[in-house]
Amino acid sequence: MGLKHQSYRNSSSSKLLCFRYSALALIFASLFLFLVPFRYGPEPLFGTDHTHFNGDLRDTRFPWNHLCFGPAFEKLKLAVFSKTWPVDAAPGGMERHAETLYRALAARGHEIHIFTVPSDRKSHHDIHQGSLHVYFAANDHGSVNCSLAFEIFNRVNANGPFDYVHTESVSLPHWRAKMVANVAVTWHGIWYEIMHSKLFQELLSNPDSLLPGPMTELQEAMPRLLDEIRFFPSYTQHICISNNAADVLVKIYQLPKRKVHVILNGVDETKFTHDPIVGARFRQRHGVPGNASIVMGVAGRLVRDKGHPLLYEAFSSFTRRHPGVFLLVAGSGPWGRRYAELGPTVKVLGALDPSELSEFYNALDVFVNPTLRPQGLDLTLIEAMHCGKPVLTPNYPSIVGTVVVSEEFGYTFSPNVESFVEALELVVRDGAKKLWNKGKVCKQHAVSLFTASKMASAYERFFLCMKNSRYCRYPLPTDC
Ligand SMILES: *[C@@H]1O[C@H](CO)[C@@H](O)[C@H](O)[C@H]1NC(C)=O
Ligand SMILES: *[C@@H]1O[C@H](CO)[C@@H](O)[C@H](O)[C@H]1NC(C)=O
Repeated sequence: MGLKHQSYRNSSSSKLLCFRYSALALIFASLFLFLVPFRYGPEPLFGTDHTHFNGDLRDTRFPWNHLCFGPAFEKLKLAVFSKTWPVDAAPGGMERHAETLYRALAARGHEIHIFTVPSDRKSHHDIHQGSLHVYFAANDHGSVNCSLAFEIFNRVNANGPFDYVHTESVSLPHWRAKMVANVAVTWHGIWYEIMHSKLFQELLSNPDSLLPGPMTELQEAMPRLLDEIRFFPSYTQHICISNNAADVLVKIYQLPKRKVHVILNGVDETKFTHDPIVGARFRQRHGVPGNASIVMGVAGRLVRDKGHPLLYEAFSSFTRRHPGVFLLVAGSGPWGRRYAELGPTVKVLGALDPSELSEFYNALDVFVNPTLRPQGLDLTLIEAMHCGKPVLTPNYPSIVGTVVVSEEFGYTFSPNVESFVEALELVVRDGAKKLWNKGKVCKQHAVSLFTASKMASAYERFFLCMKNSRYCRYPLPTDC
């Protein structure tokens, strides 16, 4: 997500931008790439029982989260490079993910050394809690100073070598990764998928091509994609957070299959639970009348690339036909004021406390995520599912191949107003009862795949397998 984007910008992109494609060549090239048909994910997830898998884990073509790993009897020493580490209350998705994962691995007794900077960019002491060690190695701009990080890395490594190195996207840059033998990278967003986003954003913001030429970011996408394809082999192993990204890494980036793995992100399932009473209270508190026919909700930063122009336009025509449908908008940003203009059926709640998020999801009949960023796995979709809510979201390959893998989980649409309105109409036609049932299926799906403990045990087994191929066999006698 933001992570990859940013460090990239600071690093090697300048020389690439020197050679420019003509806009025409770019468009032909991207059309070609998008028209190449390939399946989203090696196998359909839903209805396929992977729990009976028997073989070498490096050959799996499905998320490791499907499997049930027993306890580990060997302790690992891992080095981790992460762009930031959350020190304040409301961390973004990427930071929340990193913290959840490494705290879980440390709690399992593994020695975790994290090289990073504080998310607030201020000065903080290093953290040493049990076997979790966080080293803040910032340069003048507040981002990771790689030389400084490696000084500490080498010192810790001299006390007993690391078993494996893990980097969250390009936190460990590729020219450094080349010098490290055992490094696995988790990709939270790849340019092939970012290019997708930019294409949709261009089509939405410039539908009749009245503006001259495509936006700069779209023009820059192709050279960046080429660059990625060239430098990705600098990392030894690759972990993707969706089936689609893994497919792209094998088929477009041409990485060897056995070096590409899927481990889905998980959220703390104890924080997001189904609770209708809490939900009803939340509705009351925010003035949703008891006779509301359906309550929809959207959460996150209210900015353009999270799809708010799309939802705003779709909902403003839709609400005239369906005055009983309410929309709860959680979050802050420039689009908050626009939503408030839509009348009393739209409630703009402002930014919610993390503790209120679960209550918010529980107040809904359906969770809407209109994102224009098809890369990565949006944690909000997963959180809503854990609370037993179906979702309404664009039909991007990363989403339909991994999260909303069947109509039983909700509704998907193409990222344009017409298709969005059509999906909203379907929600109304189905009604609250049917949404409730879909929500139950969502909950089962989320609990079986997207939990923090499933994610942590998959990563644990992954690093064990990288250290000692004995652990690559599945099932082991100790597995469940
Ligand atoms: C990064 O760390 C190295 C080694 O400690 C130091 O010499 C250098 O000045 C630092 N660079 C920045 C930009 O802070
Ligand atoms: C809900 O109730 C309010 C007042 O009790 C009424 O004005 C409104 O029309 C009702 N809405 C629907 C959709 O029935």
